[in-house]
Amino acid sequence: MSDLKQQIDLTRLPKHIAIIMDGNGRWAKEKGEDRLFGHFHGVESVRNIVEGCAELGVEYLTLYAFSTENWDRPENEVNGLMALLVDTIRKEVETLNKNNIKLHVIGDMKMLPQYAVEELQEALEMTSKNTGLNLVMALSYSSRWELLNAVKNIAIEVKSGTLDPDTISYDTLQRFLTTSNFPDPELMIRTSGEYRISNFLLYQLAYAELYFTNTRWPDFRKHNLYEAILDFQARERRFGKTSEQLA
Ligand code: IPE
Ligand code: IPE
Ligand code: MG
Repeated sequence: MSDLKQQIDLTRLPKHIAIIMDGNGRWAKEKGEDRLFGHFHGVESVRNIVEGCAELGVEYLTLYAFSTENWDRPENEVNGLMALLVDTIRKEVETLNKNNIKLHVIGDMKMLPQYAVEELQEALEMTSKNTGLNLVMALSYSSRWELLNAVKNIAIEVKSGTLDPDTISYDTLQRFLTTSNFPDPELMIRTSGEYRISNFLLYQLAYAELYFTNTRWPDFRKHNLYEAILDFQARERRFGKTSEQLA
């Protein structure tokens, strides 16, 4: 395990890792348990991976915790997930501070219950001065929601005259995204064997390296993270150029 860690080239770490934490429900079902049991155990993996990224010196970690589409799940699962979220944040803020981790949230906060918004705001404030790992929680997030929102807000500025359409650049668009303060993810990991993006950071993942593993999220641990990073480091990122041009 530590052997894997030693193989990682710390000078070529992905600056930003994004993870679709999938497979909690199947993990629980395989054990004859309720889906919420899987979510509950998924928190252990979150703790482990956040710690793993902080130890390595990864600068940004984005975790897809709840999608806009997940609101359509059965009510008891949605309520259970919200309660788990608030409970986890309350319990973990101290550890985040101890490890110098700064929390960020992206997503449609208007959809969240008020008690969850308040708990989140408190945690954001309490960790706002930290300078280590940036932990970005994607909550009630979907890429199409984000892009639609960006388009609406750009239209508002154009209409009011504060933005000239001729000057709209990629930088302008970036400014209207929820990720405006973060670099694009370089490595995207999805657990539990699905080969899809499920409405996650569609624009920002343009040149990310994608890594898929069959491991269910509640089983995902630091050594799985190290494997993904090693795989990333073995790839040639060409950004549209030829291999020779990169030499
Ligand atoms: C991911 O696990 C967690 C959330 C989407 C909240 P799932 O709940 O999607 O688990 P599976 O994919 O049904 O196994
Ligand atoms: C994506 O997983 C969302 C999160 C992990 C939060 P889903 O389980 O909701 O995605 P689909 O339904 O398999 O595409
Ligand atoms: Mg799933």
